[in-house]
Amino acid sequence: MQFLVETHFKSLLFYFVLFVKQLSRAETGINVLTTNTVDSSLPHPPWFLSNGLPVDTTFTFPTPLPSIPSDDGNFGKRSIDLGGLEVAQLSMSDSTTRRVWRTYEGGPANMGVSIFEPITLPRNFFRLGFYAQPNNRQLFGWILVARDVSGGNLRPPLDYTEVGNTISLSIKQDGPAYFWQPLCPNGYQAVGLYVTTSPLKPSLGQDSISCVRRDLTEQTEADTWVWRIKEMTISSLRPAKRGTAATGVYTGTFSFKQVNFPAPPLYCLKNTRFDLSSMPSKNQTRLLFQTYSPWIYLHPEEEYLPSSVNWVFTNGALLYQKGNEFNPVPVYSNGSNLPKGGSNDDLFWLDYLVEKEAKEKVKRGDLGSAKAYLHIKPMFGATFTDIVVWLFYPFNGNAHLKFLFIKSLSLGMIGEHVGDWEHVTLRISNFNGELWRVYFSKHSGGTLMEACDLEFQGGNKPVVYSSLHGHAMFPKPGLVLQGKYKSGIRNDMARSDKFLDAGVAYEVIAGPGVVHEPPWLNYLRKWGPRVHYTIDNIRHYIAKILPFFIRAGLRKLTRKIPKEVFGQDGPTGPKSKVTWTGDEQYS
Ligand SMILES: *[C@@H]1O[C@H](CO)[C@@H](O)[C@H](O)[C@H]1NC(C)=O
Ligand SMILES: *[C@@H]1O[C@H](CO)[C@@H](O)[C@H](O)[C@H]1NC(C)=O
Repeated sequence: MQFLVETHFKSLLFYFVLFVKQLSRAETGINVLTTNTVDSSLPHPPWFLSNGLPVDTTFTFPTPLPSIPSDDGNFGKRSIDLGGLEVAQLSMSDSTTRRVWRTYEGGPANMGVSIFEPITLPRNFFRLGFYAQPNNRQLFGWILVARDVSGGNLRPPLDYTEVGNTISLSIKQDGPAYFWQPLCPNGYQAVGLYVTTSPLKPSLGQDSISCVRRDLTEQTEADTWVWRIKEMTISSLRPAKRGTAATGVYTGTFSFKQVNFPAPPLYCLKNTRFDLSSMPSKNQTRLLFQTYSPWIYLHPEEEYLPSSVNWVFTNGALLYQKGNEFNPVPVYSNGSNLPKGGSNDDLFWLDYLVEKEAKEKVKRGDLGSAKAYLHIKPMFGATFTDIVVWLFYPFNGNAHLKFLFIKSLSLGMIGEHVGDWEHVTLRISNFNGELWRVYFSKHSGGTLMEACDLEFQGGNKPVVYSSLHGHAMFPKPGLVLQGKYKSGIRNDMARSDKFLDAGVAYEVIAGPGVVHEPPWLNYLRKWGPRVHYTIDNIRHYIAKILPFFIRAGLRKLTRKIPKEVFGQDGPTGPKSKVTWTGDEQYS
């Protein structure tokens, strides 16, 4: 094993100087702090005065969304019948909602939170709760409103319970807010909260929010963090059980928790009908993907490009079997001789041709052949569609570490592996075909972004950056470190002339109504051989080649690197991942 240390003496010296400079800057930091304390007596920052909070502008997509061609199903019809309860998605805008309260502190970017009340409802629809969002984003979100189709599914509350208020907060806010939970009749559940700026209980008349019959509800859990200050927390809520077969419906309401106040549970809706009729048809799916297909940028220094699966099979992939390691068989170019089914045991694995030059060619991939493989998944009881965009990279390059003044330390073979599957997921509303969120996969877990926070190109196509060597998906260019204290595994992202317009070449490989799955999809073993080194060996080796005074720190750091970076378990295909039937895993 050979390890390269990319620390030329000159750059080492440079970073050492930088390091010393930073130390001296830390001292002057004390001065800055003192000035800040004095500054706090000054008027508020300009956005307080100009009323220019991001949330004061309603988000719009770069270009208008195409109208959805009508089809037999119920996709894009604005409302969905959940079985006795028809629900519509009310998008937040000036005309549909009214802001009831806001504060200018706490929450993401310390810009505070705003609470909105749905006011313009379709005829015969009722409110289930209010909507909350951080002020650091343009107004972008939605809440469901409901119509009782069969009678007895919605009831006004009997009373309201106060679950907290902001009287005790000495922060800038539009007066204090009071949070009320409906007290529901027996057999009915509360889905959302009512918010007032007066201590008087909300009225129980037509303006009230409705309780939902118990068997049309499911348990929730906190989704994203909306606001937190002192002992108060606002979280958006999501169904506790999620996946392609789960019936819980994301309702768009939020919870408010305050120490020393009661916090009775809030529920979400449930699709008791769940017949997939609200999922997009083939033609509609094509239109959705034409609208939102991502642009995927590879790093300018990337050597390991994506390719189609069939390109790899045609150019030399071998199937190995345990116990018969010396007689691998070439994989057919259509993949039909791969073993199907079974589980991710180590009975079979793939590798590339043994001959060095041929192997190297396959590892480098072929951008021209690369294809996006789409998996269409019903989410939240088929009220949303996940279009999972899978990319195949024949090879995952090695990892690099940033450590103190060492900019980039190659980790030898660590991170290298044959066969790398990565994905981004478009989460689209089945009510109106609007993109809500995009999920970016990386090593373990990933990031979920609201559409209003994305970079778009060529209309409404989100821009995705695939990191150098590791190919993890990121929404922004730049450097992201996985580690601590400005040290860790490097994820380098940048625009370059190597990119993939996923809308040009794609194939739907699975989803409702897809009958022909490609043969390789049901190959559930590893797409590369198991890696034969241990993390400890390598940690020890790296520590040996570094000056002694940073060894201990490096050992500590490597303990924090996610196991996935080491790729020891070998890569599996899309169908072997828990997200195949589950929700995306975000942290
Ligand atoms: C789907 O689109 C094609 C081509 O635009 C069209 O010919 C066909 O009738 C459409 N199918 C349905 C079910 O609308
Ligand atoms: C796949 O390729 C093999 C070998 O060329 C061939 O025998 C087989 O019929 C092909 N299968 C399909 C489904 O095309």
